[in-house]
Amino acid sequence: ILPKNVTIIEVGPRDGLQNEKNHVDEKAKLEFIRSLQTAGIKEMELTSFVSPKWVPQMADAKNIVEKAEKIGRQIVLAPNEKGADLAIEAGAESIAVFVGVSNTFNKKNINRSTVESMDALEPVIAKLKNDGIFVRACISTAFYCPYEGKIEKEEVIDLCNRFVSMGVDELSVADTIGMANPVESYELFKLLKERFSEVLLTAHFHDTRKMAIANIFAALQVGIDRFDTSAGGLGGCPFAPGATGNVATEDVVHMLASLGIETGIDVEKICEAVGMIAPHVSHPIETGMYKLYNNR
Ligand code: HMG
Ligand code: MG
Repeated sequence: ILPKNVTIIEVGPRDGLQNEKNHVDEKAKLEFIRSLQTAGIKEMELTSFVSPKWVPQMADAKNIVEKAEKIGRQIVLAPNEKGADLAIEAGAESIAVFVGVSNTFNKKNINRSTVESMDALEPVIAKLKNDGIFVRACISTAFYCPYEGKIEKEEVIDLCNRFVSMGVDELSVADTIGMANPVESYELFKLLKERFSEVLLTAHFHDTRKMAIANIFAALQVGIDRFDTSAGGLGGCPFAPGATGNVATEDVVHMLASLGIETGIDVEKICEAVGMIAPHVSHPIETGMYKLYNNR
């Protein structure tokens, strides 16, 4: 039995733009965010408070958080205490921390081992929860790592366990480089759903090998009803070689609608948002629904 309603967490302004070679100006980012909200997006990753030396595209995080209209749950990423402090200072109410199951990936991404990152995040998360902040934990390389290969399910469960015991509100479990297949999606999310019923459970698929939609359908079958998606299929982690965009919001919402699953999101208006950001990115946008929209 498939869920009747699904929540889409739009990650375009963050995951989508962080990997963009062109500098996208603040005004365009804010307009993109606004048009996604107009399309019905209620949960969104706006930006990330990371080192501007590592990810120059996110250097305007403070202005984005301060200027974006507050609609629904607006999430910002923070890799460490400094990022969390800056996010709170800017007025963020929901913060996403992120750690890779793969130690090698974690080092490339945030310059610490996975255990070091977890140890450092423990007091940060405790403080955030004490201050009433919504905390989302993003689990990268939950299926495959570009450096270490296949990741064991037990390792993912262990990391999730530790985050849940720290009091996070949400786990977003990611196929960072888009290598998972639908059986792997089904099996991991079935386990996670059984183990972590006390938190929000979200699936984050990149579409590198065009399997993300199939992986989402597999996760739906075990009752997963929250998906991270990116308008225009933008995205990718700069420290995960081979990772391309996230699965496209417009294509996922379209599939869900065709299955009779409610998201509250207007596909046409998502395509308008894509059309708005398209001239600002360095590559053509060729998702299924956006192409249809352009050829109407
Ligand atoms: P580091 O060089 O080890 O940092 O980088 P450090 O603690 O040694 O500090 C060095 C300098 O950076 C200091 O400044 C700090 O103040 C500053 P200095 O004294 O040299 O002037 N600094 C910061 N500045 C701004 N914001 C901060 C911050 N922290 C320290 N938060 C660090 C460690 C984590 C900072 C760095 O590695 C980094 O910023 N990494 C970001 C990587 C990233 O953004 N990756 C993409 C997001 S994750 C993703 O896309 C995956 C996901 O989508 C799920 C999936 O698909 O898998 C979520
Ligand atoms: Mg990602």
